[in-house]
Amino acid sequence: MTCLAIFNCKGGVGKTTTALNLGAGLARRGAPVCLVDMDPQAHLTRIFDKLPRSADSSLFALYAASVPLRTLALEQPGIGSLLPAHGQLMKVDSLFGKGPSTLNRLKLGLEAYQMEMPGIVLIDCCPYVGVLSLSAIFAADVVLIPVSSDYLSLQGAQQVNHALKSLEPVLKRRVERRFILTRFDRRRRMGEDIRAKLQAVVGADLCRTVISENVAIAASPSLGKDVFAHQPGSRGAEDYLALLEELSADGLF
Ligand SMILES: Nc1ncnc2c1ncn2[C@@H]1O[C@H](COP(=O)(O)OP(=O)(O)OP(=O)(O)O)[C@@H](O)[C@H]1O
Ligand SMILES: [Mg+2]
Repeated sequence: MTCLAIFNCKGGVGKTTTALNLGAGLARRGAPVCLVDMDPQAHLTRIFDKLPRSADSSLFALYAASVPLRTLALEQPGIGSLLPAHGQLMKVDSLFGKGPSTLNRLKLGLEAYQMEMPGIVLIDCCPYVGVLSLSAIFAADVVLIPVSSDYLSLQGAQQVNHALKSLEPVLKRRVERRFILTRFDRRRRMGEDIRAKLQAVVGADLCRTVISENVAIAASPSLGKDVFAHQPGSRGAEDYLALLEELSADGLF
């Protein structure tokens, strides 16, 4: 079983889009998938129109009342299950602290959940380093870092690489990671230049696949769909399938 955290402290780089489409692609291959929305913005939860009225029905309850994750999981046709977010997640560190019991709670909760509901877990993280994203990294076997194909994002990617390295002594293991270029425009030379620069920094941790800037990817969430359901023949669908195959071939799923 694999738990993959999709993280970058830069916003708008394609974390939620990648969680949605990787999850859908995996489910189409027959793997049960659990999507975990660890972002108080609850974008993933909103795409599925599953925003809980009360924080008690969201991942917040894991922290507030140690509620087992199976009681929070919502069935998500075409995916498997969704553990929904709520805006109250923003308060987790101020209410419950930043100690090991808070930081390890998601990991322990997911381990118990996976005993009952085996499958691949994909965690959509929020765009900052804090208790929520650290909890996701602690729970993950692999961290996938979407990097949008522009120069400012390159700097952000270096910061994430540095932050993950600095966590390794705490976790007493290498944090397995993959960087994936998103919003890649094949018609512009800038994209290739950014790819070469990122490769120079992260080497073999850069995925060979790139995710193109693609209108089907951009439009599908507004319809409550993933790119495969919306336009299976699109470049975006091809790219997410290629990413899935690359990660599978690397033994990550
Ligand atoms: N490959 C793509 N082609 C076109 N549009 C894209 C692509 N990837 C993402 N987008 C669009 O970019 C915007 C940001 O994407 P997304 O919400 O996935 O980023 P994020 O990293 O999760 O953002 P946040 O940090 O706010 O959570 C969305 O409008 C999304 O539809
Ligand atoms: Mg997001």
